[in-house]
Amino acid sequence: MLERTFVAVKHDGVQRGLIGEIIKRFEQRGLKLVGIKMVHPTEEQALNHYRLTDEWMKKLAEKTREAFRKKGIELKESDREIAERVRRWLVDYLREGPIVAMVWEGYHAIEIGRKIVGDTNPFSAPPGTIRGDFTVDSYEIADARGRPVRNIVHASGSKEEAENEINLWFSIDELFDWERHDWRVMH
Ligand code: CDP
Ligand code: MG
Repeated sequence: MLERTFVAVKHDGVQRGLIGEIIKRFEQRGLKLVGIKMVHPTEEQALNHYRLTDEWMKKLAEKTREAFRKKGIELKESDREIAERVRRWLVDYLREGPIVAMVWEGYHAIEIGRKIVGDTNPFSAPPGTIRGDFTVDSYEIADARGRPVRNIVHASGSKEEAENEINLWFSIDELFDWERHDWRVMH
């Protein structure tokens, strides 16, 4: 149950002055910060971050198809074609400027992290989530402009993603073991 998840304030979040607000939300929920740094991602880091695994392609294509279906459009591209198209945009988006990379630890940290962040599509993200509180971007706006959805923050989507992402962005000596004292009260 004790997990680590990778969270990043994307460059639009940095520009919007939301670094502190995002850290606050993870901290107040009771997760423990075990690594943090500012990075201007290289092309290679960004490509490795959005790895074309079967699981990611499938989930991403599903979300995209669903969003288009709601508009009455049936996408004819394959899952891989959709994922490759979105990935190219994503690499540029992630490399726009420095991001704040973090590792948060806690019980159910991966799923809790996703709840704090909210839906991929900010339009569908409920108030109370980061994406639902600080932006109104949507698949529709993004599509019309030929760019990815700008949603301020990243959080690992699964155990496997979390492991890969933490290894990609942090070395062992950049991660810290320490005791958060209020865990005794909380748990
Ligand atoms: O970030 P999250 O895990 O919620 O979503 P993802 O499926 O892993 O996709 C990564 C990123 O791609 C999203 O955060 C969006 O910025 C972008 N995306 C997009 O622009 N259009 C899509 N149809 C799907 C994802
Ligand atoms: Mg994801």
